[in-house]
Amino acid sequence: MITLTFIGYGNVAQHLIKAFLNNSEIKVQQVFLRDASKAIYPAIDFEFISDWNQLTPADIFIVAVSDDYIAEVSSQIPLKNQLVVHTSGSVGLDTASDQNRRGVFYPLQTFTKGKKVDFKEIPICIETEFSSDLDVLKKIAKAISNKTHIINSQQRKALHVAAVFINNFTNHMYQLGSEICQENQIPFAILEPLIAETAAKVTHLSPFEAQTGPAKRNDQKTINAHIDFLKSDAIKQSIYKLLTQSIQENGKKL
Ligand SMILES: NC(=O)c1ccc[n+]([C@@H]2O[C@H](COP(=O)([O-])OP(=O)(O)OC[C@H]3O[C@@H](n4cnc5c(N)ncnc54)[C@H](OP(=O)(O)O)[C@@H]3O)[C@@H](O)[C@H]2O)c1
Repeated sequence: MITLTFIGYGNVAQHLIKAFLNNSEIKVQQVFLRDASKAIYPAIDFEFISDWNQLTPADIFIVAVSDDYIAEVSSQIPLKNQLVVHTSGSVGLDTASDQNRRGVFYPLQTFTKGKKVDFKEIPICIETEFSSDLDVLKKIAKAISNKTHIINSQQRKALHVAAVFINNFTNHMYQLGSEICQENQIPFAILEPLIAETAAKVTHLSPFEAQTGPAKRNDQKTINAHIDFLKSDAIKQSIYKLLTQSIQENGKKL
């Protein structure tokens, strides 16, 4: 039996706890949250605590707090020689306090409160300071996911930047597209099949192969007409020009 203690009870911690609770090899032992009034008591037997001195040793401490507080929070754990992992995509392993053995347990997915996720499909990126800690982290990753990757801090930083392009920026493109639809009395839902097909295509083609559109075709008249269409919105127009340039420069790399 592997015992886990969570520090922090936000989005990621709550999703992870739910995933681990269904596993007979893993026991969630304690959950530390600084504001006891935020504890939600599911019908299970772990303990909520809000006093650092009540923490007891566990096989793994999972620090799932906001990136900026990982260093401070990990230094408050009043125990020694414990394995303490954080869940961030962008914070280095060495940001956590060195009073314990450090590691990373980063689930590469976007989590939304109340929205169910299928952990089996979520890649878990793990890293440990000491190779002797890798096995136990692998075990808990494999208990909830079919996709475990050993990724070092430099790779994780790169992965996080890539994920910002792929997820956050793409979503912002949806927002801009939805504004253009709204301004022209077109339902955004009309674009849903295109959104689904765009995402589906890159599972069997490279993004380079999947690229279509006026920029890819070098259709200059259409590009000029679109730039003119956007003349009243300087930001959308600059984004359009920059992305068109990026697609065209990319085409020249062949
Ligand atoms: N959200 C995602 O999609 C996602 C995906 C992968 C990885 N991550 C990473 O997972 C970590 C947690 O993210 P999250 O989305 O779960 O954040 P969140 O929902 O904002 O929850 C943060 C938790 O940290 C606690 N906390 C913040 N400062 C603290 C402090 N000084 N002392 C004690 N507890 C403190 C908060 O307590 P209060 O409720 O009292 O403020 C809350 O329980 C971050 O490192 C994030 O980068 C997030």
